[in-house]
Amino acid sequence: MATGGIRSDKIWLDGELVAYDKAQVHVLTHSLHYGLAVFEGMRCYQCDDGRSAIFRAPEHIRRLHDSAHILEMPIPYSDEELLKASADVVRTNRFTECYIRPIAFYGEGEMGLAARGNKTRVAIAAWPWGAYLGKESVEKGVRLKTSSFARFHHNSMLPAAKASGNYINSILAGYEARRSGYDEALLLDTMGFVAEGSGENIFSVREGVVMTPPLASILPGITRASVIRILGDLGVPVVEQLFPRDALYIADEAFMTGTAAEVTPVRELDDRMIGTGQPGPITRKVQEVFQRVLHGREDQYRSWLYYV
Ligand SMILES: Cc1ncc(COP(=O)(O)O)c(C=O)c1O
Repeated sequence: MATGGIRSDKIWLDGELVAYDKAQVHVLTHSLHYGLAVFEGMRCYQCDDGRSAIFRAPEHIRRLHDSAHILEMPIPYSDEELLKASADVVRTNRFTECYIRPIAFYGEGEMGLAARGNKTRVAIAAWPWGAYLGKESVEKGVRLKTSSFARFHHNSMLPAAKASGNYINSILAGYEARRSGYDEALLLDTMGFVAEGSGENIFSVREGVVMTPPLASILPGITRASVIRILGDLGVPVVEQLFPRDALYIADEAFMTGTAAEVTPVRELDDRMIGTGQPGPITRKVQEVFQRVLHGREDQYRSWLYYV
């Protein structure tokens, strides 16, 4: 049973469910020093029939393996094993709804930068986590600030990998935005085109057409892919293209997507109100359908639910 915060009864570590306090690593854990670890963030929701389901768990586990492949990290567990382990973590902690964090990292052993001998360790933890950017954000929208930190170039770091080290860029941008009184940062790519938030993909809507940056300097978000599919099924045109920040200033609507943030409206960028400053009709519709999907109320998307 959950004991509050991020504490849970059990964490899955290297193939076994262990007590929360026993899920420990050594200070010479290689990944702790150099940031080479890959992770995922999934959410489990309680559906209307009372069962709990992890949203698009196979896609998240596949992305974990993709991230590892990009970074040449062997993961000694199959998709099936990690899916089962994720479901076990939810069940054993008796969570009905929670956030789930799988992570693969290099353990202790050698300390050289290019060490290849360290064992890959894998952990899966879960904890209750409400609205990431706050409940009010989901209802009223967030205020964004264009970051002075550029989203790293895809020839420097590898954005399709959800790698721990990549998040230093996000953390710096997030600190800066929040210190200046904004809810979240908007990062531009190194050419100055809109990339994404520190932990969310971004969408802009103008005259009924939805626009989102292509898969270049961004994380290929699973919520992003889901929302593109939902919009397509609703008959709303979606284009994946580069655009500068002022396209967002003059958008009718904007929203961000992510496992943690779900679908969050954006009401302001750089102190310019977007549209009416209220979540627009397309944003509202996407939010509503997405919530229905997550809770098993849309038969059409039931295959996106991985029941635990
Ligand atoms: C940098 C970044 N972009 C986008 C996303 C959204 O991805 P997803 O919808 O798969 O959670 C995340 C969250 O994982 C992220 O950290």
